[in-house]
Amino acid sequence: MSYVTGKIIKELRERKNMTQKQLSDKMQISDKTISKWETERGLPDIGLIENLAKCLDVSVAELLTGEYAVNSNRSANMRKAKFYVCPICGNVIQSTGEGTFSCCGITLPVLQVEEDDQRHEIQVELIDHEYYVHMNHAMSKEHYISFLAYATSDRMQFVKLYPEQNVECWFTKRGHGTIYAYCNQHGLYRVNV
Ligand SMILES: [Fe+2]
Repeated sequence: MSYVTGKIIKELRERKNMTQKQLSDKMQISDKTISKWETERGLPDIGLIENLAKCLDVSVAELLTGEYAVNSNRSANMRKAKFYVCPICGNVIQSTGEGTFSCCGITLPVLQVEEDDQRHEIQVELIDHEYYVHMNHAMSKEHYISFLAYATSDRMQFVKLYPEQNVECWFTKRGHGTIYAYCNQHGLYRVNV
């Protein structure tokens, strides 16, 4: 059995959104070599493993066992992000997982996602690699959409909105993800994109 598989190298490289060329440049080797490893026409010299793991942002153990997905999900998968909003001052806290956060002297409950309803429908249009996100929703001081966010596995794009603005923003498309909208009266809504 080989100590590392081409499939794992390819998955890790793609997870980092790197091309074979980018990875080979980082490792200062030829891009043909990466292609060779990924198609299992050759395996990395054992002396290169440490540098390969470093360039792929995993530990040597993760590279060799292929058990990186479990580890990375545990530490930070933005699609599992949680939001907390302070009911007193409106402060928004975004976390990669559940935790205990307090603001204005109270412990904040984690926001639960509400059932879809027509009044909070999030409209998403893809225009030139960007999502144009908008909603037809009140924007008064008492009742408004307080933020929009777009979470993909490794990153969160977050837009704070204020009363009297329109509910609209642009997000750079980055693969599968979830778009969230938070109404200060009715809660958190989401749509998968
Ligand atoms: Fe609302």
